[in-house]
Amino acid sequence: MAIQTVLRIGDPSLNKISLLVDDPCSTEIRRLVEDMFDTMHHYEGAGLAAPQIGVLSRVVIFGFEHNPRYPSAESVPETVLINPSIEILSTEKLTDWEGCLSVPGMRGRVPRPSRIRYTGIDLEGQVIERDVEGFHARVVMHECDHLDGILYPQRIENLAEFGFIEELQLHGRYQAAPCDSSNE
Ligand code: NI
Repeated sequence: MAIQTVLRIGDPSLNKISLLVDDPCSTEIRRLVEDMFDTMHHYEGAGLAAPQIGVLSRVVIFGFEHNPRYPSAESVPETVLINPSIEILSTEKLTDWEGCLSVPGMRGRVPRPSRIRYTGIDLEGQVIERDVEGFHARVVMHECDHLDGILYPQRIENLAEFGFIEELQLHGRYQAAPCDSSNE
């Protein structure tokens, strides 16, 4: 187990463009991904991008059966995506609440395309290509944004829909499981 410190908004590393990975099958990348999973599971994140633990490489992970931070979300297969790219398949945008381990204790409503195709390489060097929608698509777009130095607050169109979980819940604007903010 190697749970890493998750950088928080304000750290300049979170605003940097990450570099393409030359060899997705290297020991270095395998160790990085192990640390990322340990960290994501520890903090009950739905996904994590390498720059969040201070490594500026184009690697994201995501997936869960059931996530207490997003109790109503459908399950997403646990996935490692190296050098990912996204193609937008729908002009329709959906707006929903997002959180981020780098923006602890907060939620904001973010508009994003409803359907995407994502591709990337896994740890065995195999190509992954999936057409997805809903929360799955949202998580992948959120994680891939991290690789370009973008945090979800930069995507919020109406900043009145951004705030602390406690306040949003207190006023009935955001609903989550009781344990939702326990690790933030
Ligand atoms: Ni995030």
